[in-house]
Parts: sequence; C-alpha cells; structure tokens
Amino acid sequence: NKGKYEHYMQKEIHEQPESLTTTMRGRLIRGGSCKSKSVLLGGIKDHLKTIRRSRRIVFIGCGTSYNAALAARPILEELSGIPVSVEIASDLLDRQGPIYREDTAIFVSQSGETADTLQALEYALENGALCVGITNTVGSAIARHTHCGVHINAGCEIGVASTKAYTSQIVVMAMLALAIGDDTLSSQARREAIIDGLFDLPSKVKDVLKLDQEMKNLAQLLIAEQSLLVFGRGYNYATALEGALKVKEVALMHSEGILAGEMKHGPLALVDETLPIVVVATRDACFSKQQSVIQQLHARKGRLIVMCTKGDAASVCVGGSCRVIEVPQVEDCLQPVINIVPLQLLAYHLTVLRGYNVDQPRNLAKSVTTQ
Ligand code: UD1
Ligand code: F6R
Repeated sequence: NKGKYEHYMQKEIHEQPESLTTTMRGRLIRGGSCKSKSVLLGGIKDHLKTIRRSRRIVFIGCGTSYNAALAARPILEELSGIPVSVEIASDLLDRQGPIYREDTAIFVSQSGETADTLQALEYALENGALCVGITNTVGSAIARHTHCGVHINAGCEIGVASTKAYTSQIVVMAMLALAIGDDTLSSQARREAIIDGLFDLPSKVKDVLKLDQEMKNLAQLLIAEQSLLVFGRGYNYATALEGALKVKEVALMHSEGILAGEMKHGPLALVDETLPIVVVATRDACFSKQQSVIQQLHARKGRLIVMCTKGDAASVCVGGSCRVIEVPQVEDCLQPVINIVPLQLLAYHLTVLRGYNVDQPRNLAKSVTTQ
C-alpha cells in the first residue's frame, strides 16, 4: 500500500524517520543505575566477548548493503580498535580471500537472500569464522544460517532501489560499534554523544526531507545530462558511492561515486564547465580537505553542487558560483544517514522526470538470488 505516495521508492524515502525509530526501538538505553547510556542488541549480546576478541571484523555484502558497511567502517574501527575490512561478496569469492577462525564475519543484506552474500556466508562458516547477520528479513536464509545477528526492523522494502534499509543498516552498525566498545572507559563520552545523536536522528531526517522540492528543482536542471559525479571522503565516501548507485540504477544516468582523495589521480581530467559534480562537504574532520577539493574544482571551472552543513554555504563556495544543498548537522558518524537523503530524493525525481519506472528499474530484481 503506497498510501498518499505515487511510488514505493518515494514512500520509503519519506518514511525514514519512522523506520529509523523502529530500528532503534528498545535498543537504546538512557538512564539506569551504573551506566547512564548504553545499547542493547539482544541478538548479539551473548557473542560480544567473542567479537571483542576477534583479530579482524570483515563486513560482506553487495550493492547498497556493501555501501552501508563502508559508511560504518570508521566508527567500528574507532570504537572497537579492531581492524575492519569491507568486502564485496562476489569479489571475496572470486579471490577465495582468506577468512580465519579468529575473524568475525558480518553479512549485511536487506533481503537476506542474496546469492553471492549467502555463498560467502557458507564459505566463512567452512573457514570457522564467527558469522553475524545484519538483515531486514526475519527467517531469511542469511538470518537462519548466521550464528547470531541483528534484524534492522526497517519494515518491508518494496522499491527495487534500497533506501530506508540503507539508513537502518548504518544505524544498526553504529549501534554494533557502540556495543562492542561498551567496555572501554576512555571512549565513554564519545559513545554517549553518539547515543544522544541516535535519539535525535529521526527528527533530523524529518528536517532533511524538507529538501524534497529543492531536489526536484535540481533534478529538473539535470534532466538531460549524460553523467553525474559524486565526490565524498571519510564517513561520506559511502554517501558518494550510494548516491551514484541510486542515480544510475533508477534514473538510468551514468553516475560515479569518487573518493575525493583520489581526485588528482585521474578523475580531475574529467572536470570541465559542463559535467555536473556533487561534492559532499559537511562538517567533520575532513572538512578543510574538502574545501580545498572544492577550490581546485572551481579552478577547473567545475559545475559544482555542494552539500554542506546548514549555515556553511558562504564558506564552501568562496570565489565561485555553485549550487548548495544545506543539511542539518548530526554526530559525524551518523552524518551519512542525513546526507544520503537529498541524493535519494534527487534520484527519485530525476527518474520520474525522465519518465522511467522508479520502482522497477529495467533489468534489475529486488532480490538477486542467482549468481
Ligand atoms: C527479539 C525479537 C523481537 C522482540 C525482542 C524482545 C524476533 C525476530 N525478534 O529482538 O520481536 O521484541 O527480542 O526482546 O523474534 N539473528 C541471526 N541472524 C541475523 C539476524 C538475527 O542469527 O541475521 C538472530 C539473533 O541472534 C537473535 C534472533 O535472530 O537470536 C533475533 O534477532 P533480533 O530480532 O535482532 O533480536 P532482538 O532485537 O533481541
Ligand atoms: C541498490 C540495491 C542493490 C542491493 C543488493 C544487495 O539499491 O538495492 O544494490 O543492495 O542487491 O541486496 P541485499 O541487501 O538484499 O543483499
């Protein structure tokens, strides 16, 4: 049931304040006796000791689920102190990459039925790793075959393009980082700030959804373009990849997410006054580096659309003309949840304006159960 919406993708984008609330329900604890704020993930609490002792955490997924793991990697590394790698399931299988008994392998999948991810799970089980699932579908193959896991509880996702599952996956992985790091005293203030940030997140997502009309106007401007680049780094490298994935899969427009730190190693050659480029430059530890990327793109007359923190328009756009998308600021590790929303809206409107089927893009299936 699409309710007041025209398409499932549109409905699922707009219901993210609610889906995120459901994802967190019963899992965040504020107040209490000894510890003031903490996280409780019922599905993994008995396995936390084993996870903390593991030599490496390996995330494994495909498409949007892979991007979500990439978004969560920095906070996992920071709060766990354990090396974290992120693998595309098919690539891990192609290489038969090493997986050890001392590894925690985390399988991220909305459907829980993706063939590549499922096969990588069988492979990790054979190699003796602790296998954890992060899935949206209770009773799915991945939920059944993993040793333990967390359901993201985002509600059924019908649009082929994953939207609300992506933001809920990131939130679950941030909660996982909080749970793993829970025994470290030195990071307690940081963890409490993130928990406060999680409580506020649904209302911030509601704010950023107000950009709907602005994104429709931007889509109008880009309707006939051949290509769109998206630059990001740090927490928002994933935003660049995921934004570009949405645009290519539904709007059928070539789009590429680019790690801004790699700009000078090739992509800069593409920049001219015609190619539209989105630069994600919200406030975090990478902000000044992104400012200098913007300046260099300006110097090449790049056609820039800068996503920045509310109030930063003047400081990101010095000396050049660019379009600005201003978004609310949240805790740095949660910022990818906010930043993807305008790009989901852009992909949605571009698709509708270009006259394509937004809920069922050509050649794609919701659940990829064949290899
Ligand atoms: C569970 C209940 C929830 C109830 C809550 C009350 C289910 C599905 N969930 O939620 O309805 O409100 O307790 O405390 O009944 N699992 C995997 N692999 C996965 C995902 C999950 O093995 O990919 C396992 C978990 O280890 C756990 C079970 O499935 O044993 C349920 O996981 P989850 O729904 O995340 O647990 P709770 O949040 O505790
Ligand atoms: C993109 C998209 C796909 C899926 C991928 C993995 O919008 O939906 O890239 O993310 O096929 O699917 P799951 O998460 O079900 O394993």
